[in-house]
Amino acid sequence: MSETISIPLSKRVGGIGPSATLAASERANQLRAQGVDVLDLGPGQPDFDTPEHIRDAGVRAIREGRTRYTPAAGIPDLREAIADMYSHREGVVYRPNEVMVTAGGKQGLFNIFAAVLNPGDEVIVPTPYWVSFPEQIKLAGGIPVYVDTEESDAFSLRAETILDAVTDRTRMVVLNTPSNPSGAVIGREQMQDLARLAIERGIYLLVDECYAALIYDGAEHVTPLVVGPEAQNITILCGSCSKAYAMTGWRIGYVAAPAPLIKACSSLQGHSTSNATSISQYAALEAITGDQTPVRQMLTTFAERRDAVIPRIREIPGMTTVEPRGAFYAFPNISELLNDELPTSADFATWLIDECHVVTVPGTAFGRDGHLRLSYATSMSVLEEALDRIAAACEKLA
Ligand SMILES: Cc1ncc(COP(=O)(O)O)c(C=O)c1O
Repeated sequence: MSETISIPLSKRVGGIGPSATLAASERANQLRAQGVDVLDLGPGQPDFDTPEHIRDAGVRAIREGRTRYTPAAGIPDLREAIADMYSHREGVVYRPNEVMVTAGGKQGLFNIFAAVLNPGDEVIVPTPYWVSFPEQIKLAGGIPVYVDTEESDAFSLRAETILDAVTDRTRMVVLNTPSNPSGAVIGREQMQDLARLAIERGIYLLVDECYAALIYDGAEHVTPLVVGPEAQNITILCGSCSKAYAMTGWRIGYVAAPAPLIKACSSLQGHSTSNATSISQYAALEAITGDQTPVRQMLTTFAERRDAVIPRIREIPGMTTVEPRGAFYAFPNISELLNDELPTSADFATWLIDECHVVTVPGTAFGRDGHLRLSYATSMSVLEEALDRIAAACEKLA
C-alpha cells in the first residue's frame, strides 16, 4: 500500500477560516435536518423573492440565447446604466470605462484589494467590520489595521477615529455604509471630513455600499463625492444587486473607480472568472433601469420589522442596542450577560442554539466581542418567537 501523501496548502490560505455568517446558517440547516425546530436570525440575505420583472428579464435572456461570454467587465448596456446611475446620483460624470460588473459585491472588493495592495500595505478597517474585509485584505498581501467606532456614538465613523491609524503605508480606508453588522450610516459631515483627509493624505476611500438602498428614517446615503469631483480620484464605490433587489443568487455587483483601476480590475477578472453570468447581467440591467417599486416595498417591510425588533431587544434584561439606520441587522450589546461559563459572544451564540434553538452570529466574527448580530431578514412571526425564546433563555442567566 502506498503511503498517503499530504501536500501542504499555501501560506496564503493557511489562516483563512469559513465565513462565520455562512457557518451560522449551516448550523441551522444541520439542526433542522435532525428535526429540531430552529429559528434562524443569521441570514445575510433578504427573505423576498427577486421581483418578477427582473426574473422575467433573466428568462428572456436565456430564451434569446444571450448565454455566451460577455466582455470581462460586463455588457456595454449595463456598464452604461451603472455609469449613468452614479453620474446622476453623485452629480459628477462617470463614464462606462470607470465602472465594471462583477460576480457580486464580493468579487468587486476582491478585485480592488488585489489591484491596489502590495505586500505590507495597510488598509484601515473600522470595527465592527463585515467578516470578509480582513480576509480579502490579507489574501491580497495587505495588513488590516483596525480602529474601533464607539457604540456610545452609534458606531459612527469619524475622521478623528482613523487619524492616528494613518501611516505612510496606508493605501485605503474601508467605509461600509450602511454597515453590516451595526446598521450605522456615515453622515454628510463625517463623510466630508473623511474625504478631505483622504485627499490630503493621498489614500483611497473604498465605499462598500451594498446596502445603500436600505436606509431608514429619511437618512441619506453619502459618498466621498459630497465634497465634489476632486474626490473622484480617491473614491472607489462598490455596490451590489444582492440586497437591494433580493438577487443574492444571481451574483451581480459593480465597481466605480478611476479608469486605470477599473482597467486593472477587469484584466484581473479576465484571467480569473471572466464575466459575471451573462443572464444575470441582463436581469441586473432590468433591476437598475426598471421599476423601483419593489425596492421601496421591501424597505417598508424591513423598517416595520426594525421598529418591532429594537424595542423587544431593549426589554431583554442585560441587552442594550443602538438603533440601526440601514441594512437589516441589529447588533445588541450582550456583555452584561457574559460570565465565567459563557465568556465570549461566540460561547453565548452557541449556548443560545443549544438552549432555545435560535441561531445568531457572534460579535467575534465582526471584530467586536460582547455583541450578537440578529438579522431581521425573516418574517415577523419568526422574529417574535425567536425574541420570546431569547428573552426566556436570558432570564435564566439573571
Ligand atoms: C457589507 C457587505 N459587503 C459585501 C457583501 C457581498 O455581497 P454580494 O457578493 O452578494 O454582492 C455583503 C454580503 O453579505 C455584505 O454584507
